Amino acid sequence: MGSYKIRIYNEGGVDFYGYGPDAEVYAEIPKAYTPSKAAPVFYNPVMKLNRDIAIYAVKAYQQITKRGLRICEPLAGCGVRGIRLVTEVDGIDSVTINDVNPTAYEIAKKNVELHNLQDKIQVFNEDANLLLTKNASSGKRFDVIDVDPFGSPAPFLDSAMRAVRKDNGMLCLTATDMAPLCGVHVNACIRKYGGVPLRTMYCHEIAVRLLISCSVLTAAKREIALTPLLSHSTDHYTRTYLRTGSGAKNTDESVKQVGYIIHCPHCEHRQLKPGIAAPLTGGCPSCGGDTKIAGPLWCGKIQSREFVAQTLENAKVNGVNRTIKLLSTILEEADAPATYYNLHRLCDQHNLPCPALDWVILMLREKGYLVARTHFNDNSIRTNAPISEILSIIKQAQ
Ligand SMILES: C[S@@+](CC[C@H](N)C(=O)[O-])C[C@H]1O[C@@H](n2cnc3c(N)ncnc32)[C@H](O)[C@@H]1O
Ligand SMILES: [Zn+2]
Repeated sequence: MGSYKIRIYNEGGVDFYGYGPDAEVYAEIPKAYTPSKAAPVFYNPVMKLNRDIAIYAVKAYQQITKRGLRICEPLAGCGVRGIRLVTEVDGIDSVTINDVNPTAYEIAKKNVELHNLQDKIQVFNEDANLLLTKNASSGKRFDVIDVDPFGSPAPFLDSAMRAVRKDNGMLCLTATDMAPLCGVHVNACIRKYGGVPLRTMYCHEIAVRLLISCSVLTAAKREIALTPLLSHSTDHYTRTYLRTGSGAKNTDESVKQVGYIIHCPHCEHRQLKPGIAAPLTGGCPSCGGDTKIAGPLWCGKIQSREFVAQTLENAKVNGVNRTIKLLSTILEEADAPATYYNLHRLCDQHNLPCPALDWVILMLREKGYLVARTHFNDNSIRTNAPISEILSIIKQAQ
């Protein structure tokens, strides 16, 4: 087992102190280290992609709003994200970083001093909810709040809604508790997110939709409307960027997009039912079998084409291939139908050999259907074709 210790790391051209694993050993043999809550300040090299996208997304948000930004990272660990934001994004007035752990606080302070950024970055050692609530008055609210905890961001959502700018602010949320969100621990998901998950071939999309609806319903209590700008599910976590809008009318419109997915486990038919009132369950309209329900969850779009395009442009300047590829696929699927079909899983279910993904895409397009790949899974497609049509094309390939 590798040991955690204070080391010097580099990310985005910035040197900083972190408490974590040897980055090279970790990249080769991740199992040599068990990330855990017991590690006082875990600098996780795997989350570089998460931070890279955060940098490009905040840059996009600044380019769109053209404002000097006040940013808060209430669960900051060693502070690398805040330091990278200040050094890599123009137009940032201040960053407030905070961690309840005294060791994290000391390391973050040391990092800020290392880069002589004391005039731009303030470091605090408080509970995140307390810090956010102290910044809930109108003159103090933040333009951007990035909640990046171990596990679920749900315990911090209410205070984040208090402290985020009500109109055209941005909330960035990470959830690493994929077992509840993907339906392995159903009760934990209901407790934390107020929605029922489902173990399906598209459970990672359901996870993002549950995280968004929980945020939308929390924001609605304060008459804040949320609109998803960018969402992704990568490695062991899911992440979403949400824009705020104020007023009861906007909030009602956002809440109307919370509803259910009715899923048929027998034939893979799916149907979205926006609206918070529980839907009546009938038999599957495709095969007549009993259906299952996931939700309440977000039924609206999980990406904004314009925002993703701008974030991708920023990534192209100095981003690594993986980030550019991920954002390019997200752009391709931005307006595509909800939920996706994993061809391997479909073929397994029907005992069929799996045809090439490109060929299935071509055949569906020839028949006039919309088709897009998805970043959620390499061997999956989004399409408006009914399941019967997808299966008939797969069978043609035999
Ligand atoms: C996943 S790490 C943060 C990583 C960091 N955002 C980054 O990008 O490198 C989560 C951090 O939250 C801190 N934390 C946990 N509960 C907290 C709370 N209630 N208030 C403030 N910080 C908390 C932990 O000490 C830990 O450093
Ligand atoms: Zn069915």
